[in-house]
Amino acid sequence: MTDLVTTEIRDRVLTITFNRADKKNALTHAMYAKVVDAMRAAESDSGVRAILFTGAGDSFTAGNDLADFRDTPPLGADAPVTQFLQCLLTARKPLVMAVNGLAVGVGLTMLLHADIVYASESATLSAPFVDLALVPEAASSLLLPARVGHARAAEIFMLGKRVKAQEALAMGLVSAVFPDGELADAAFAAALALSKKAPEALALTKKLMRGDLDVVGARMAEEGKLFGERLKSPELLEAIMAFMQKRPPNFG
Ligand code: COA
Repeated sequence: MTDLVTTEIRDRVLTITFNRADKKNALTHAMYAKVVDAMRAAESDSGVRAILFTGAGDSFTAGNDLADFRDTPPLGADAPVTQFLQCLLTARKPLVMAVNGLAVGVGLTMLLHADIVYASESATLSAPFVDLALVPEAASSLLLPARVGHARAAEIFMLGKRVKAQEALAMGLVSAVFPDGELADAAFAAALALSKKAPEALALTKKLMRGDLDVVGARMAEEGKLFGERLKSPELLEAIMAFMQKRPPNFG
């Protein structure tokens, strides 16, 4: 079976690639679990100085696998997605994200925990939680309005607006935009540059820039509780059935 997440350490950069291109790199429980293992190992490995995320094919990630949401809803602290979000929250090592195409749901919200976000010209970002009868996660209900302002965050969360790369750059959601063929090299170069910096100075700078992580963590937990409740709602089932049946949802 193909490895649905691949990891590679080169020049002290750990590259984590979502590798499920036929499903737009939608993330299953097993994929989150593998990412968590890789991130935890990296935190205590002096041979890793920066972590780079990207996706195979034409997508970064289409977000959580919707069949998993329906069939085995991720609930509580032990759920791999919860652990993944904790890893993003507590990461000491710099995170670089190369958004090579579609970034949906957690594909967008994880960017709010990154240090450097590079996107390809063809990247499109969205977080249509309300369209799925869900609520935002990853503390994004706090971090996204803080980053782009309430008015634009509401378009993204509530209207399900898709933001193209250049607009994401203008909003401050990404650090820079590159032609599609240049993204991978640019992102690796950034991660490599970070890997050569003084690691303690880098970790402290990251911590200072991220502000009060207790507040961010508390919001993440609050969202997680509501998200878990939404996963059991009839509205969510209708949203997912509609997606599977390739029809608009009917919320009555
Ligand atoms: N979970 C499970 N499967 C997904 C998926 C997801 N989040 N996103 C895409 N896929 C699957 C599709 O079902 C399809 O599978 P199929 O070929 O077996 O039918 C395949 O990936 C390709 O997706 P498709 O919808 O045909 O591609 P597209 O380019 O027309 O649209 C998206 C891409 C990402 C815009 C669209 O698939 C989508 O809206 N996905 C759901 C995203 C989402 O809501 N994520 C959760 C956010 S919390």
